[in-house]
Amino acid sequence: MAENYDEVYLASQENPRAFWGEAAKLAHWYKAPSTILDDANPPFLQWFPDGETNACYNALDRHVADGRGEQDALIYDSPVTGTKLRFSYHELLKRVSIFAGALRSEGIAKGDRVIIYMPMVPEAAIAMLACARIGAVHSVVFGGFAANELAVRIDDIEAKMVIAASCGIEPGRLVPYKPLLDEAIELANNKPQTCIVLQREQSRGEMQPGRDKCWHELETVANPVDCVPMLSTDPLYVLYTSGTTGEPKGVVRDVGGSIVSLNWSMQKVYGVAPGDVFWAASDVGWVVGHSYIVYGPLFNGATTILFEGKPVGTPDPGTYWRIIAEYGVKVFFTAPTAFRAIKKEDPKGEYLSKYDLSKFESLFLAGERCDPDTLSWAMEQLQVPVIDHWWQTELGWPACANCRGIELLPVVPGSPTKPVPGFDIRVLDDQGEEVVAGEIGALAIKLPLPPGSFTTLWGNDERFVSSYFKTFPGYYETGDAGFIDENGYVFVMARTDDVINVAGHRLSTGAMEEVLAAHPDVAECAVVGVADAMKGQVPLGFVVLNDGVERADADICAEVVQLVREKIGPVAAFRLCGVVKRLPKTRSGKILRATMRKIADAEAWKMPATIDDPITLDEIGEALGALGYPAKLGG
Ligand code: COA
Ligand code: AMP
Repeated sequence: MAENYDEVYLASQENPRAFWGEAAKLAHWYKAPSTILDDANPPFLQWFPDGETNACYNALDRHVADGRGEQDALIYDSPVTGTKLRFSYHELLKRVSIFAGALRSEGIAKGDRVIIYMPMVPEAAIAMLACARIGAVHSVVFGGFAANELAVRIDDIEAKMVIAASCGIEPGRLVPYKPLLDEAIELANNKPQTCIVLQREQSRGEMQPGRDKCWHELETVANPVDCVPMLSTDPLYVLYTSGTTGEPKGVVRDVGGSIVSLNWSMQKVYGVAPGDVFWAASDVGWVVGHSYIVYGPLFNGATTILFEGKPVGTPDPGTYWRIIAEYGVKVFFTAPTAFRAIKKEDPKGEYLSKYDLSKFESLFLAGERCDPDTLSWAMEQLQVPVIDHWWQTELGWPACANCRGIELLPVVPGSPTKPVPGFDIRVLDDQGEEVVAGEIGALAIKLPLPPGSFTTLWGNDERFVSSYFKTFPGYYETGDAGFIDENGYVFVMARTDDVINVAGHRLSTGAMEEVLAAHPDVAECAVVGVADAMKGQVPLGFVVLNDGVERADADICAEVVQLVREKIGPVAAFRLCGVVKRLPKTRSGKILRATMRKIADAEAWKMPATIDDPITLDEIGEALGALGYPAKLGG
């Protein structure tokens, strides 16, 4: 029977313990929790603190025990290698328990940290689940990051092991991961004891005797192992995400909170039942991959799709529709940027008309602001509800959505609809006071955050508190600005910090500035995110050169572009850089990044009263002109 959104939301607010205690019954517990929430030490919350469970058991074993063994658990579809594979729950359990045995025989035990650096291959999910099975904490690093970023993560988490593939496959080029891994270990202070390498035939990696082990060889000789009971509050994984500085934040997610929130959200947010086919076209290196490619659908006994390809060019803009038709996908989740890419190549939806999408019921979009054009194009083409929803790596699952599994509310373009039960979203002014409906402010979430939200930053409780809970005591600061209208619809407008979203990938302009500043000819720099018709935003840098530098500006710009690619990775998509004499600043020396961005985006802007020298903004305008902005806007 359909539920009423307002009633469910109210229940979650009035008595979170009763609400999540009930949701927890969906999970398998070795020891059911007698305490639902311990909030004695905010913002360090403990959900189900005395419960004992295991994420891998909830993802696999329980479904085999319940008779789902023959159902597809995971479908691998890889147009870049021409491979299609199906893993039943039974087969996936077998592979995972054997690989978990291999990890154990290589000395990995509960609490050890394992980095996973893999492209979209089934072994990435197998590695994650195998870690969860024996209680090791995994940290997946996205393949588009450079060796240096991998090294930073290996060091921060003090990884005992790295599991990597020999290569990734991008349209038109191979990305050899193994040399990047070797370089990262060279750079890292903490040297992992072992690397397990999945050799892919497209490009095999050179093995380092003693340290490197072959995935397939280990799998052949390993014995399966059982799940290790974990405390609900034990870490399941750490996922690094961009903050304001070059130092990434290691978001820690606990075992019990993940199981309860992801299981509940699969059903209530996405409207997916056990046995349904659900597809999130993202990457295991992002939070969407953790929550909704691997854990969520499997906790829920659904079938998940692991897709190694792109929305266009692998081989055409009809790939997504082919997959939805071929596997009977009911619910599909991707980023608006993917739809913009498809729309650009197939504006009339001609590829779409080739496929039978009769089983397809809804599309969810997230990762960046969904522009109304993309939303209406998608609705027109697909003729199913298109649901924009808002969340973050830190939160782990949607905070704001049109909950398909509760009650479908009217869609308001530009809004990810209303707070999901469990999230008390408020709009606050600089003083922390709530603003009136329709007024923009900082989006904050009143404590307690629901289960499944991050519990701390790895090894850095202090940064956890200072980054998220200091500005507005009693609230989690999201880093997004927006408003809530008089009907309770939330609108997410922009970040309040130096984080930008490039093709749905979260990146830090601060981290890029650190790379630019390290160039020997650069005295000062600023990076801002400017609008881009396809990727939503792209980074654009301005550099001020040291006195006496006489080299050509173009050469220096080309070098800093290359440096960002080498230090952060191709995923940064940093290609635009201009040389200026000075950066626009306030009299107190603060760089006017927001004004620079507005000029680039041809948005209305006011001369800041505190500007030190207005001429500097004219100079920025000239440099932008040379890069084709703002005329290039949208191009
Ligand atoms: N491994 C190695 N390199 C990678 C990579 C990976 N996993 N992912 C991306 N890259 C590289 C790309 O090859 C590209 O390199 P190039 O500069 O040599 O061309 C660069 O990083 C930028 O990649 P991207 O931003 O993805 O741009 P693109 O032009 O290759 O593709 C889209 C554009 C829109 C098709 C693509 O970004 C896309 O599919 N986006 C959807 C993203 C998504 O689903 N996000 C999840 C959030 S829900
Ligand atoms: P990530 O942690 O990579 O998921 O990125 C989270 C950030 O992406 C949020 O803080 C927002 O800035 C942005 N974001 C995600 N989803 C949406 C959305 N539906 N609308 C607007 N911004 C979004």
